[in-house]
Amino acid sequence: MDELIKAAKIAFATEFNYYLKAHYFHWNVEGPDFKQYHDLFGGIYEEVYGNIDDFAENIRKLGGYTPGSFSRFNMLSQIDDELAVPPAMQMISELLADSEKTYKVLKLVYDLAEASGKHGFSNFLAERMDAYDKHSWMLRSTLK
Ligand SMILES: [Fe+2]
Repeated sequence: MDELIKAAKIAFATEFNYYLKAHYFHWNVEGPDFKQYHDLFGGIYEEVYGNIDDFAENIRKLGGYTPGSFSRFNMLSQIDDELAVPPAMQMISELLADSEKTYKVLKLVYDLAEASGKHGFSNFLAERMDAYDKHSWMLRSTLK
């Protein structure tokens, strides 16, 4: 169970950083297709943020404490911060790579939750993984 809680905190911090990066890109993207990219990032950050609270409460349900500071998120997150303002297409390819990475992090927690018989949590994680498949599809299609 300790291993599951530890992995869940890592996935939670990764999702929080992913949410923040999508929102950051939503704010700062520029170019002739501004509106399209602004809305693409907007849909993604809203979806991820809409599930943050449930994820945090799932960690509490397992008996763990939920991380909630930027320094802790940075320690745990498996995706890197973006400090620059990259060109629009680079933002999209970076967020695509982060989507695929986040999916893998969620899958590790999913496998641990299944092995621990925590099927409510694994159901939640399966839905998160499906959401990242959708984010990846939209970002990948925009790059073509
Ligand atoms: Fe906005």
